[in-house]
Amino acid sequence: MAVTEFSQDQLDEIYIFAVDLGRKAGEMLLASIERRIGDGDNQFEEKDSSVDIVTQTDEDVESFIKTAIQNKYPAHKFLGEETYAKSQSREYLIDKHPTWCVDPLDGTVNFTHLFPMFCVSIAFIVNHSPLIGVIYAPFQDQLFSSCANRGAWLNEKRRLPLIRNPSIPPLPSNAPRQCIFSCEWGKDRRDVPDGNMHRKVESFLNMAAEAGGRDGRGGMVHGVRSLGSATLDLAYTAMGSFDIWWEGGCWEWDVAAGIAILLEAGGLVTTANPPKDPMTDPIEDFRLGSRLYLAIRPAGPSSTETGRQSQERTVREVWRRVHELEYTRPGV
Ligand code: IPD
Ligand code: CA
Repeated sequence: MAVTEFSQDQLDEIYIFAVDLGRKAGEMLLASIERRIGDGDNQFEEKDSSVDIVTQTDEDVESFIKTAIQNKYPAHKFLGEETYAKSQSREYLIDKHPTWCVDPLDGTVNFTHLFPMFCVSIAFIVNHSPLIGVIYAPFQDQLFSSCANRGAWLNEKRRLPLIRNPSIPPLPSNAPRQCIFSCEWGKDRRDVPDGNMHRKVESFLNMAAEAGGRDGRGGMVHGVRSLGSATLDLAYTAMGSFDIWWEGGCWEWDVAAGIAILLEAGGLVTTANPPKDPMTDPIEDFRLGSRLYLAIRPAGPSSTETGRQSQERTVREVWRRVHELEYTRPGV
């Protein structure tokens, strides 16, 4: 765990507050869905593009969470998706101070289409390390949570990853074969040959194609999934349902809580972009504001490898197949 000015007792107390807040915010999301089912109202506004949208619910839930945090912890900083969206700057604003990083509604497009993969996502970050994560997907009544050194949990009862007896399964020896590969199309839809969308699709093809196909890059993964919520992609990786998550373009509030939970469950998070030599260059830690993430599920040892070795091998096998993405921003 990162060195912080917080004692474990203080973190435990903040965690209890965050879980309660996540549940209440999730109930607000569900109440809004119920109202919509009742009156058919489905209004949203466009932000940066026609696929980047905001509803009144995003705004209401963010202001509820912000007020609750400011009342309880006035000295902490707050960064929320909707507050940030209103400013013109796209700078990375998190510094070493204790900060709450909140997405009031991740999966807004899903929410407006009544596709159940939406959630509230709340992270508590100190010194750039997400120490507490709470994700609540109210339609499924799934609460994912973690506090540094206390493990990661589903509905506060089942420890993550779900399969852990007699031990957490290693990653397949021929990964990415036999893996579920999770990824997102994202919001950069520019139809230019070298743009992010084309680079992503080429990467998806490499991961999916038959082994030996695509000039030896075919990954023949078991399946490719896109939930439409980066936060839930990470939670499902922590559960062990997804083996690999690769994405570029999402923001810190899309990933902070999910990263806290995945790391506490034993996952690995690094950058989406392959280094010069994907097979030998060091595997750097993720950077929260980078907008580029590759996550690998928790893994136990096999007879030939530690769990960490199998995660690193999988990172390299992904890097070997994906294209570099471009999401630059000031302050990173
Ligand atoms: C989006 C979702 C999506 C990811 C985008 C995010 P929103 O968040 O997490 O899966 O691909 O990058 O912006 O707009 O639903 O809160
Ligand atoms: Ca989001």
